[in-house]
Amino acid sequence: MNILVINGPNLNLLGLREPHIYGAETLSDVEAKLGALAADLGVRLSCFQSNHEGALVDKIQASRGTVDWIIINAGAYTHTSVAIRDALAGVGIPFVEVHISNVYAREDFRHHSYLSDKAAGVVAGLGTFGYEAAIQFAVRQGKR
Ligand code: DQA
Repeated sequence: MNILVINGPNLNLLGLREPHIYGAETLSDVEAKLGALAADLGVRLSCFQSNHEGALVDKIQASRGTVDWIIINAGAYTHTSVAIRDALAGVGIPFVEVHISNVYAREDFRHHSYLSDKAAGVVAGLGTFGYEAAIQFAVRQGKR
């Protein structure tokens, strides 16, 4: 089973960026932790981050036929991107939407997601543990 973790804009700044909201771990720390979890669970994991909407769309499109589950934190594009929504719907790969922070306890513009109604599930506010929870869920669901 192949799982792809996608992080969108500004998540490369984890650890530096508003640590009171997003925590002190860097993206490398998080990806290493997720890699160890995947190894324990016996699944293949790859990670991708981009600040560019088109690069995220390209990555999702390229995943068709090779990836069984996508775990995506689209960052601010969650609240703006019809293109990422369409890419996820277009490839038909089941996905879990992750937010490190509790977006519902923040500004109103963060309460709407272009992805949630297409997601198998949504995790918000669990910190970076949310990625681990999403991976556990995907493994439990298996290939769809
Ligand atoms: C985020 C929440 C988004 O509103 C924000 O734009 C991000 C990160 C989160 O992980 O909590 O960049 O997706």
